[in-house]
Amino acid sequence: MALVTLKELLLPARREKRAVGAFNVANYETALGVLHAAEGEKSPVIIQVYDRLFASCKAADLCGMLERLARRASVPVALHLDHGSCLEHVAVALKAGYTSVMLDGSKLAFEENVKITKLAADLAHAAGCTAEGEIGHVAQGDEGALTRVHEAVEFARTTGVDAMAISIGTVHGYYREEPMIDVVRCAEIANALPELPLVLHGGSGTPLEKVRAVIENGIAKVNIATEYMDTYLKSSYAELKKLDGKFLPTDKFYDPVVDACAAHAARLIRFFAGK
Ligand code: 13P
Repeated sequence: MALVTLKELLLPARREKRAVGAFNVANYETALGVLHAAEGEKSPVIIQVYDRLFASCKAADLCGMLERLARRASVPVALHLDHGSCLEHVAVALKAGYTSVMLDGSKLAFEENVKITKLAADLAHAAGCTAEGEIGHVAQGDEGALTRVHEAVEFARTTGVDAMAISIGTVHGYYREEPMIDVVRCAEIANALPELPLVLHGGSGTPLEKVRAVIENGIAKVNIATEYMDTYLKSSYAELKKLDGKFLPTDKFYDPVVDACAAHAARLIRFFAGK
């Protein structure tokens, strides 16, 4: 089906109070798991790639394969640079064929973040692609890093981003303690920006009732990396143990691993879609 940008996926999602899952992938098997899940659920999906892979030829190499898989999929798929650290990586992504980019300037001072994010958004739009920015910083135990409503509004209006990541209490990776998710703050930002799809980073391990609450209040993209990659690794390890040193062709070895990844992603895609 179609290779699409964030716009086609997230604008209707925001209006319909549902979210599209955005899964980080790093190889053929993790990509296949996401696509099998999305096709099984008849839901669109976002495949995203870590910024660190853009420092070498890995991200562009991966893109060739991802684009081919996405075009063949029976559901719309967006290919996205996750947490782009600089404009060079944004340019690499757009040239390689990703349909969307994130420039993460959330650790910078407000004006600097606005400036660099706007440059990234302009580059993306000139290429017919979309851009995500982040205002507030998604970090462990840092109250001061939560997104301020007035800054979010100015950031969105000035940068022209198509989707905006906000900091409302989630963190990347597994939680050490139960997170405090600020649903009220999320609702205030959403009310101030009624059309703009908001993005939840740090989806892994976030209590699902909180995820549901923020999807009801403007979140239209939920990022999942750690727990999905963990499923891939744990399943690979379990299959390796079963082999007990015997030989098996690699493609056969990975079939059950892809199935485990697909089952994991499907459960989340269904939940985010409110099915
Ligand atoms: P997790 O690793 O916590 O799922 O976070 C994913 C993410 O936000 C990627 O940008």
